[in-house]
Amino acid sequence: MSIFITLEGTEGCGKTTQIPALARLLETQGYRVTCTREPGGCNIADAIRAILLDPLSHGMAARTELLLYAAARAQHIDDVIRPALDRGEVVLCDRFADATRAYQGAGRGLDPGLIETLNDIATQKLEPDLTLLFDLPVEVGLSRARQRQAASDGPAEDRFEQEALDFHHRIREGYLRLARENDQRIRIVDASGTIAQVAQRVESTVLGQLGITR
Ligand code: TMP
Repeated sequence: MSIFITLEGTEGCGKTTQIPALARLLETQGYRVTCTREPGGCNIADAIRAILLDPLSHGMAARTELLLYAAARAQHIDDVIRPALDRGEVVLCDRFADATRAYQGAGRGLDPGLIETLNDIATQKLEPDLTLLFDLPVEVGLSRARQRQAASDGPAEDRFEQEALDFHHRIREGYLRLARENDQRIRIVDASGTIAQVAQRVESTVLGQLGITR
């Protein structure tokens, strides 16, 4: 039985760190699991991702941003998500259409109707069965993200991490509103504490939602 699970949250919320452990948990329950992410997950969408996150793309119009996320999503669904679901697998996707609602809708202030129209074109109405929303005060998440960058000696902040605090607050509020409006699909996971503590919450939420007792 295929299951489509998405993970969402503000910057530095820790969702990406949790994906390998969640995949292993589901595999021990007998599921075959495909892990992927947005924007990206396939060659064409990865190329779009590079444009979207590049600090040199500073000044990109919000409409351009929206169209690029939608374009990346359409390709990702055709190349990766649909085929995996058709094979009967669990798909764990790091961000999906809710990110567009939260970032381009609540964050950038684009019209929600326009966002739904573009999401529909991209997804062809494919909806997650379950969405985990990793919730954390935005200051804590941004400081985690900065510590990670400093420790990894990796790339500097991307275009979104450079945005003002207010932008990130609007996104968190947007996500929490989506969770209230879609309370059957979206489960809020408290993303504070250690990686192990969050993993425990993820495990009980997912197993509970899938009706698995251990
Ligand atoms: P990541 O940090 O989870 O890799 O996601 C990349 C960035 O893209 C992150 O800042 C959130 C942003 N984003 C949007 O603004 N809209 C979207 O639809 C998606 C999927 C991501």
